[in-house]
Amino acid sequence: MTVPEQATSSPEPLLKVSGLVKHFPIKKGLLQRQAGAVQAVDGLDFDVRPGETLGVVGESGCGKSTMGRLVTRLLEPTSGTIEFEGKDITHLNTAQMRPMRRDVQMIFQDPYSSLNPRHTVGAIISAPFRLQGVTPEGGVKAEVQRLLALVGLNPEHYNRYPHEFSGGQRQRIGIARALALKPKLVVADEPVSALDVSIQAQVVNLLDDLQDELGLTYVIIAHDLSVIRHVSDRIAVMYLGKIVELADRKDLYERPMHPYTKALLSAVPVPDPRRRAKRERILLKGDVPSPIAPPSGCRFHTRCWKATEVCTTQEPPLLTLATGHQAACHHPENAADRAPAEKPGAEAARKVTKKTDS
Ligand SMILES: Nc1ncnc2c1ncn2[C@@H]1O[C@H](COP(=O)(O)OP(=O)(O)O)[C@@H](O)[C@H]1O
Ligand code: SF4
Ligand SMILES: [Mg+2]
Repeated sequence: MTVPEQATSSPEPLLKVSGLVKHFPIKKGLLQRQAGAVQAVDGLDFDVRPGETLGVVGESGCGKSTMGRLVTRLLEPTSGTIEFEGKDITHLNTAQMRPMRRDVQMIFQDPYSSLNPRHTVGAIISAPFRLQGVTPEGGVKAEVQRLLALVGLNPEHYNRYPHEFSGGQRQRIGIARALALKPKLVVADEPVSALDVSIQAQVVNLLDDLQDELGLTYVIIAHDLSVIRHVSDRIAVMYLGKIVELADRKDLYERPMHPYTKALLSAVPVPDPRRRAKRERILLKGDVPSPIAPPSGCRFHTRCWKATEVCTTQEPPLLTLATGHQAACHHPENAADRAPAEKPGAEAARKVTKKTDS
């Protein structure tokens, strides 16, 4: 049964994305004819509410960074619309985007390459002021020092260079730069993936603290669920350019509906050995198929142990299957089967090994 979306007084979304598509053309030969396209993002619908953290997860190459660069308007979409505070920003040019640049900022994955090594930390963090032509109250230096302290760095170090800082500290510099203009929305693209596991939690916790302090709204991208599990209010799971499941964090963890989500969850480390022993581990065989020629029907069917005939021919739409819980699957877990007449294909079942953790 499809449950209608609740008509409660949910606030106006800060960001609203509809039918968002980004295809990168592939050009071949001397004449550079278009020979196909990388379907990096292929029809995303979601919104981000003020003050929330939307986590976005999926394997490498599924279109997460492209999505982040589209919604921050660093990339021009192929089709679809992006609205920010109710305003259509899909095709704004650089000049029209300038006022919005203050409100929407991005934190990048690699703190090594995203900071100019020849600029001091002070110059890096104050660059947004120069670009926007704003002078902060109390002057640039005082504001840079305030930002350094805010992200847990020594305010006296504004004259140092990026190489004098550790990886975690460099990502803090990237965070300070992103927060300089007091943005409303911050898109963080795998903000801790390049960092040592031992300091990942510190940086994620810093983001979490800053959200409360500054009333920020986040989209945090990660390639697995372990990093964003504690900080996300809702989580979107992506596979090959599409959202396959979107739900409240607790719902997603306790009642995953999409088989891909279930597989991702089974790979998250469980600290408690008693719970670990009980859990079924799902190992997905094979790689993610190419986004140049994605599989027909459900894009996950080549790796799904529940796949049936219908999965190979009909694309499952992203539907609300429980309150606030959307999934795109003909045979969802924890919900009524949407194509119950069929039996799982024996071939698909063989492609997947299930094993129990020991
Ligand atoms: N500028 C580009 N030109 C062509 N293909 C691209 C470009 N950027 C990304 N892609 C392709 O789009 C797909 C999605 O990439 P990306 O958004 O970086 O995924 P993720 O961040 O989830 O790893 C990949 O197949 C990638 O190779
Ligand atoms: S639609 Fe079919 S192939 Fe796709 S996830 Fe659901 S069961 Fe698996
Ligand atoms: Mg990426």
